[in-house]
Amino acid sequence: MPTVLQGATNQAQPGQDGPVPGHLLSLRETPEEEIQGLLDLAFSFLEVLEREVKKVPTLRGKVVACAFFEPSTRTMKSFDLAARYLSADVTTLTGEVSSVAKGESLEDTARALRQMGADCLVIRHPLSGAAHFLARRVDLPVINAGDGRHEHPTQGLLDLLTLRERWGDFRGRKVAIVGDVLHSRVARSDIWGLTKLGAEVCLFGPPTLLPERPELLGLPGRVRVARSLPEALEGADAVIALRLQRERQKRGLLPSLEEYASFWGLRKEILDRWCPEAFLLHPGPVNRGLELDGEAMEAPRSLVEEQVRRGVAVRMAVLYRVLAGRAGSSG
Ligand code: CP
Repeated sequence: MPTVLQGATNQAQPGQDGPVPGHLLSLRETPEEEIQGLLDLAFSFLEVLEREVKKVPTLRGKVVACAFFEPSTRTMKSFDLAARYLSADVTTLTGEVSSVAKGESLEDTARALRQMGADCLVIRHPLSGAAHFLARRVDLPVINAGDGRHEHPTQGLLDLLTLRERWGDFRGRKVAIVGDVLHSRVARSDIWGLTKLGAEVCLFGPPTLLPERPELLGLPGRVRVARSLPEALEGADAVIALRLQRERQKRGLLPSLEEYASFWGLRKEILDRWCPEAFLLHPGPVNRGLELDGEAMEAPRSLVEEQVRRGVAVRMAVLYRVLAGRAGSSG
């Protein structure tokens, strides 16, 4: 596993000098019209998922390469299925069995996949900026499937799709995002997507798990930080619970997991009391009993399983956008 990539960082924001066209690297860089267009397309692909034979010939002959250097169930498998439903071929490489484990660089790995015929690269990596790094260095469209604590744009899109089906319009909607904002790439993509579409976002979490300037994570004036859980939840139309990212944390950020669950964990009775009408989302995987209790997750307000299904449609839309019309993989 490389520890140094030029342009990549273990900080939240990659060293970047503007959008890189033809890729999906972040929702921060994706214009609102493009976000809406991807959501429209994803919505139309939901119909394909309802069919008995979930297959359309749209991307026949294209090759999707997925390279995952961190664990994943939803993202990896939904990209895999999305590619297959569009009739593309798909090949998946995971960090522990790749030649990166023998010292090969990420760039050389991507170049090797390209030479084998890949038409696009889906990358998950622990370093923020890894997707930007590859987009600038390898002649392949790159889709960011989660880079460090920077962004997870397809998760942001599927969260938007799930809520757009309920609301239609995001203007005037209030969304509370609760938990480990500091380490959450999902929160960053959600905040950019939600505020671009017109929602207001209220953040709440332990002070040690909030970034230094959280109000700068989305469009100006649309992000604020609550001082208490009731303040964050009251009046919310949706609540997004974040996974506690213990794998990214330094020691000493939390008193104990029990206290985290008690002060910042979302339980059914708390949601029922402060925001009885709000939808509940969580990107998964869920630490049941820590950031979210099982009763809340199973309640009718919970959209957690819908999110997973919409993830496949969103990834079909993103693959279609990136690959349809692109010339063959030779050259
Ligand atoms: N939400 C999400 O990215 O889940 P996975 O880690 O299972 O892909």
